[in-house]
Amino acid sequence: MAKQDLSSERLHDIVAEISKEMADETERGKVADYIPPLARIDPNQFALTIITKDGEVISGGDAQTRFSIQSVSKVFTLALGLGRLGERLWARVGREPSGDPFNSIVQLEHEKGLPRNPFINAGAIAVTDSILGGFAPKEALGEILQFVRFLASDEDIAIDPDVARSELATGFRNVALANFMRSFGTITSPPELTLGVYFHHCAIAMTTEQLAAAGRFLAFDGRLSPGGARAISARMARQINTLMLTCGHYDGSGEFAFRVGLPGKSGVGGGIMAVVPGQASIGCWSPGLNAVGNSHLASQALEQLALRTGWSVF
Ligand code: DON
Repeated sequence: MAKQDLSSERLHDIVAEISKEMADETERGKVADYIPPLARIDPNQFALTIITKDGEVISGGDAQTRFSIQSVSKVFTLALGLGRLGERLWARVGREPSGDPFNSIVQLEHEKGLPRNPFINAGAIAVTDSILGGFAPKEALGEILQFVRFLASDEDIAIDPDVARSELATGFRNVALANFMRSFGTITSPPELTLGVYFHHCAIAMTTEQLAAAGRFLAFDGRLSPGGARAISARMARQINTLMLTCGHYDGSGEFAFRVGLPGKSGVGGGIMAVVPGQASIGCWSPGLNAVGNSHLASQALEQLALRTGWSVF
């Protein structure tokens, strides 16, 4: 099906159908339980939002409910880090899929403390460290939050303090990753400062409508809409989309690319931000996860969306 053949009515129907089907699903995956604020989220929730190139916002399900975006925030810090350091960022982080769980430490020792990619925890911590630079953590965090609000054209986006506190109290592996990388010089700030910023940006809470809005710059060549305000260069947007396709779902990245065929980034809060280059930006959320930490139903919904729209990039 040619991408331009989809009418607004057809898209509304598809979103409504998928939202209904997902609401009826009994197998919903398992909610993240490593911190209490995520463990108590009701798994019976689902939301899907598409923002088209014409700016139309099409939503189904609980699209006004905020959830913890977790690792989806790594896309925003990567965009900010790339914008600030340009190609120099790649001296600190690689661009290869890891094939390991998101919080794995094993590759770091063999590979001179250089994380495989910006979306595993080690890589994201290195990117956050590059944003921190010599600044105070509060300033760096303020800059990240401002950037996300700008991308989403929405000032009403904030950090969930409960989630941030719990991450700080339990993130022992991330502490290990940061210290390990500090010993190689991959990160330069005191690990506890870098981690403070990292845990807080993971704790940003958003709705699928806000997430879809924040992803527009990746759908439209670095601009918030076709021909609209520029967030990053078209080249950087292409680079980020490529990394989302190859590494955005950790050791489930191959499966997601195979089934959905779109650049996407997941988080353990159950959110997935996905991009249809030139066509649309998508936010999807359901809190139950599959075995590799990606939302079970959001992955399923995006597979159905790609099938029914013909939106796969392949
Ligand atoms: O650092 C962590 O482990 C969490 N704050 C984020 C992990 C995450 O979202 C991985 N996603 N699937």
